[in-house]
Amino acid sequence: MSKKFHLKCTKCNYITPDFQTWFSNNQKCPKCGSNYSKVKYNDDIDELKNVIYVKTGNSFLDIYFDYLPLEKRENIVSVGEGTIPVENCNILTNLAEKSGLKNCKVFVYRNDLNQGTGTFKDVAAAMAASILKENGIKEYCVASTGNIATAFAFYLAKAGISLSVFIPQDALMANEAEVSAYGQRIFRVNGDYAKAKKIAAEYSAKYNILMSGGNVDPARVEAKKTMVFEWLRQMEQFPTVYVQALSGGTGPIAIDKAIDDIKELNLIQQYPRYILVQPSNCDPMTKGWNIAKENGFPDGWETKYPIIDNPVTNVPTLATGNPATFPIIAPLVKKSGGEIISFNEDEILDIARLVAYETTVRVGPASTIALGGFLVALKQKLIKDNDVVLINIGEGVRRAPKFKEDLIYTTKLVNSIDDCQEFNREEIRNNLWRKFDKYIS
Ligand SMILES: Cc1ncc(COP(=O)(O)O)c(C=O)c1O
Ligand SMILES: [Zn+2]
Repeated sequence: MSKKFHLKCTKCNYITPDFQTWFSNNQKCPKCGSNYSKVKYNDDIDELKNVIYVKTGNSFLDIYFDYLPLEKRENIVSVGEGTIPVENCNILTNLAEKSGLKNCKVFVYRNDLNQGTGTFKDVAAAMAASILKENGIKEYCVASTGNIATAFAFYLAKAGISLSVFIPQDALMANEAEVSAYGQRIFRVNGDYAKAKKIAAEYSAKYNILMSGGNVDPARVEAKKTMVFEWLRQMEQFPTVYVQALSGGTGPIAIDKAIDDIKELNLIQQYPRYILVQPSNCDPMTKGWNIAKENGFPDGWETKYPIIDNPVTNVPTLATGNPATFPIIAPLVKKSGGEIISFNEDEILDIARLVAYETTVRVGPASTIALGGFLVALKQKLIKDNDVVLINIGEGVRRAPKFKEDLIYTTKLVNSIDDCQEFNREEIRNNLWRKFDKYIS
């Protein structure tokens, strides 16, 4: 039995004593077979208060070591990820004000600044690599729409662990290139993410190789829960609204876990409303949510959702067409008083251009879905005065070179000096903003 933590089944409460046992049971509860166990810590949680408010390390693994499922610090695999800033987002605070919300404040959480691969997935991969190293695992596999693949490839390479990655047909070349650059193996599957997951699971079973457990994987959840600790440290007031692009939903699962873990510390006055945003061409959770809402959330509503086979979306990192986690995510959203909404994919370049113009931050496609979702939420009056909104910037543009090229909009072809006039960048501003007039009322 680990002295520090154990895993407790969310279905039957059975206790798995440590990761060695968890892995030898194929990452399932030995009693009921559920893949969803939560890590519980044996020490009392009081000390965490000091850890949160007195920063003592360079990475989330270092700082929150006592509240993460790792026995020995020497097994930490890290490049300093997870200690990223929460920043004011003045352009969106001003927009909220224009919509009549005088006291609403908007912040962004800069996962694009993570040192590993520059996404929301770096903390999950750093945690997983550390646990795998500690447990002597030599080979691993994962199915991914792209960002998890890249992050796992990086951190497992650092730990000297071989990784096979299964990506769907439409995954970005940039993800493939990066995974390959670290010398990890890629299977590009002729089909969608659901098929990639299926073949990865078959590979895992055939060769007895551990496979990443997806959105409820304790390594991923434990890593992402530290977001909550970071917000407590950095923000004067805990967010009342959390906005995130939604694929499988590890983010909200992890936030819920963190808030539950620390409830006796009384640090959080109000559970945040989750506003989760899907790209309009791959939004099965939004559709399932809307149907349930229209019908008044009848019994068993959370088990009914559409499946989109082979989704064709401009945001392949969010291309979960078969959202098997809907029964977990949707009740969390309901409990929070939030919503699952969609953002029109045709507008993602406009969002990225406006943000880069106004702030010089270059966001990636998945981040534009979250930012655009905030505009939709404003329009639909889902944001209230006095709200403290936190938007998760999940990735920078570095993740998507093709998207970066598509952002070009100020070029003029010239033949001679006669074609070149003076330039005032103010002239661009109105054009950029005009596209979003419809969201302000
Ligand atoms: C940049 C980015 N944002 C958001 C998400 C969605 O994460 P989840 O739905 O697992 O919380 C992903 C997942 O692939 C992502 O890569
Ligand atoms: Zn069980």
